[in-house]
Amino acid sequence: MYSTNSSMQGKHILTWLDYSQSEVCQLLAQAQYIKENPYNQSLKGKNLAMIFEKSSTRTRVSFEVGMGHMGGHALYLNTKDIQVGRGETIADTARVLSGYVDAIMFRTTSNERLTELAEHATVPVINGLCDIYHPCQALADVFTILELKGQLCGIKLVYIGDGNNVAHSLMILAAMMGMEVVVSAPEGYEPDEEITAKSKALAEEYNGSVTIEPDPVQAVKDADVVYTDVWTSMGQEEEAEQRLKDFQGYQVNKELLSHAKPDASFLHCLPAHREEEVTAEIIDGPQSAVFQQAENRMHVQKAILQAIIGWR
Ligand code: CP
Ligand code: NVA
Repeated sequence: MYSTNSSMQGKHILTWLDYSQSEVCQLLAQAQYIKENPYNQSLKGKNLAMIFEKSSTRTRVSFEVGMGHMGGHALYLNTKDIQVGRGETIADTARVLSGYVDAIMFRTTSNERLTELAEHATVPVINGLCDIYHPCQALADVFTILELKGQLCGIKLVYIGDGNNVAHSLMILAAMMGMEVVVSAPEGYEPDEEITAKSKALAEEYNGSVTIEPDPVQAVKDADVVYTDVWTSMGQEEEAEQRLKDFQGYQVNKELLSHAKPDASFLHCLPAHREEEVTAEIIDGPQSAVFQQAENRMHVQKAILQAIIGWR
C-alpha cells in the first residue's frame, strides 16, 4: 500500500483515546503490509527526534531502524546530554526541534511533560512511554494478538499485575477493538479509575467488555491471551521491596495459566523479570509470543510514522 495522505497526518500520538477504531484499523492494516514489505523510500529525507528521559531497548532500536527502512533518519537524544538536562524548558525544546525534524518521539517521566511538548511542537509528537500510557506498545500488542488469533473481536485478554502505563493503553485499545478485557491487580494497584471508566465506555460502543477482577485465577479463566508486565516500573525502584510482597499471588506461572484456554498465548511488553511477574518456564515456553510481540513494535511504529509524517 503506497498511498498518499492519511487523516492522521500531523496528529500527535499521545493516547489512543484521541483516535477512532477505523483509524486504528488502518494502522494495523498498514503495519501488516509493512511487515511483508519492509523497505521503501516513503520517508526519504524525513527526520525523527527521539528524546529519552528513561532507558529503552525496544523503543529506541525499533524506531531508529524503522526510520532507516523507509529512507528516513532518527536521532537519539538523551535528556542528560541535551540542554533540557540543564534546565532548558520543554516548550523551547519543542519549538527548536520543530524547526529541524518532522516528528518527535518522547519517552518521559510524566504525562504533563509529554503534553507540554506536544502543545508547543509544530510537528507530530509520539508518546514513547510516560507514567500513564504506552500507546506504541499497545498497538504492537493488538497487532500480535490479531496475528496469533486471527481476530480481535470477542477475544478474551487478561492482564495480570500492575495497573500501570502498559495496562492503561492496552485496556483502551483492546476495548476499542471489541475485545473482552479483564484486569487483575492487587488492591491499591488497580488501573486508574478514569481510564477504566473510559475503557468501559469504549467497550460498550464496540461490543467488548472491561472488567476488574482482583482474583487472578478467576480472571484468567478461559483466557485466549494472558499478559503481564513488571511489578516495579521505571522510576518506582524505591517501592520495589514492598511491591514484591504486594504482588505475591499475581505471578503468571504454569498453575495460573492452566486456568486459561489450552491454546492461550502469553504476552509481555518486556523487559521481564523471570521468577517475579512470570516464571521462566512460561515466558520461555511454547505459549509465549513475546519476541514476535517485540518485533512487531517496529512494524506498527513504521505505520504510525508514515501516517503522521505523511508519505509520498
Ligand atoms: N517495551 C518497551 O517499551 O521496551 P523498552 O523499554 O526497551 O523500549
Ligand atoms: N511499565 C514498564 C514498561 C516498560 C516498557 C515501565 O514503565 O517501566
